[in-house]
Amino acid sequence: MNMNDYDVTDVLAAVTQPALEHLAATIDREFERREPRSTTHYEWAAAHLGVDATDLVVLSEGVDTPLGHSVGRWLYDAQARWSAEHAGAFVDRPAASETVPGAAGDMRAFHSATVVLPAGAVGPAPVVLRILSGAYGIEVELIGRSEDGGALPDVFGAFLRARRTVDSPYRLGAYRVSTNNRGLALGRWTPPAATRELLKLDASVWRTVDRSVHRVLELADDLKARGLGTSTGLLLVGPPGTGKTQLGTVVANELHGRTTVLVPGTYVTEHYLTELFDLAADLSPCLILMDDLDLIAGERGQTNPHRLREFLNVMDGGLADRSGVVVIASTNDHRKVDKAARRSSRFDTVIKMEPPVLEGRLAILERYLAWCDTALDLAAVARATDGATGADLKELVRTTVLDTNDDVTTDALLAQAAVGRWRSERPTAGQYL
Ligand SMILES: Nc1ncnc2c1ncn2[C@@H]1O[C@H](COP(=O)(O)OP(=O)(O)OP(=O)(O)O)[C@@H](O)[C@H]1O
Ligand SMILES: [Mg+2]
Repeated sequence: MNMNDYDVTDVLAAVTQPALEHLAATIDREFERREPRSTTHYEWAAAHLGVDATDLVVLSEGVDTPLGHSVGRWLYDAQARWSAEHAGAFVDRPAASETVPGAAGDMRAFHSATVVLPAGAVGPAPVVLRILSGAYGIEVELIGRSEDGGALPDVFGAFLRARRTVDSPYRLGAYRVSTNNRGLALGRWTPPAATRELLKLDASVWRTVDRSVHRVLELADDLKARGLGTSTGLLLVGPPGTGKTQLGTVVANELHGRTTVLVPGTYVTEHYLTELFDLAADLSPCLILMDDLDLIAGERGQTNPHRLREFLNVMDGGLADRSGVVVIASTNDHRKVDKAARRSSRFDTVIKMEPPVLEGRLAILERYLAWCDTALDLAAVARATDGATGADLKELVRTTVLDTNDDVTTDALLAQAAVGRWRSERPTAGQYL
């Protein structure tokens, strides 16, 4: 017998048939394992809605973590409220819940649950809402009767919108924004205590902050109602140590509890800018603090002007269609950012944070030596520290305290001023360490 006696197709079939049969059997087994569960789930819903399982309408939407938490939280509360007030609210067992970091503190939220809601809870008809969290995402399902089918998409849309915006448990809290495989995720952020009294800046800086941050956020609703723009970007430009990060922290403290504050990580700013602005608009009024734009917009030491401009343009678009969002961003890189930022209409305010002048240095020295009861000639120290930033002066005081064992004198301060590190040549823009 030679090879030609075999039909190739037969050979292939002989080889693949067992494999295919095995696969089919595996799929069947898998279906058997899953089917009873989902059947039960829809049948359960149908029974509670008083219809046959074939008379159901099911709407479903994949949601990100903040929305998933908001829905889970609402269901958790609704279930308690409606069960108490109406005999008709049930939760299918087992329901899993988790703790989520809301603005008003940690709160319980359903993570996976199916809840029957009577007429009036979500729209005019009774519905079943289901939340399902898995490794690949969070799914929200609305199950209703076909007889109500026409109205259900609007009901579902309005329900999700309210959970994402005005009713979000995240609204008016402060968060660090990171990412997970479903998109953005929020972790609570407590801004370090900081006040204007402790950060000695020129009064004109605070006036600008009042006008372009506080007023805008306070009047967000009014401005929106009148069709006026309610979004601004404030760009702080200046060398390291001039108080840019600290200014953001002060503002975050001042707005705490009245405005949502978002502090995005570098990865979010680079890759999820649109989502970040959407989230900010949903949770508005909202302040976004973007520190150290240089790190985002270019590698240290070799800022890429194209990337920076692109970033600013995205920001521009980001702010253009969203209201009640204010961005405070900071950068060291005068030359490149300045130009790009001026073109970008939405970074409408640029504050130059220069090393302080004589008066400013005096104020900063007084602030860091407020505890000291020795008579000191701080004006002399201020005169000797031309070019020093707030951070430099803080360091000068700190080093003097350490060197003199707490016995700070004008001479010791002046000696320290003579060797101050700001005297060493300043690196060129974009190359700060
Ligand atoms: N005007 C100031 N008054 C009081 N403290 C100041 C002032 N400027 C800076 N400091 C202090 O210096 C330190 C550094 O400030 P900050 O981190 O805000 O600088 P920065 O401008 O963000 O620097 P970088 O560009 O390196 O990020 C902080 O402890 C801050 O309190
Ligand atoms: Mg900083």
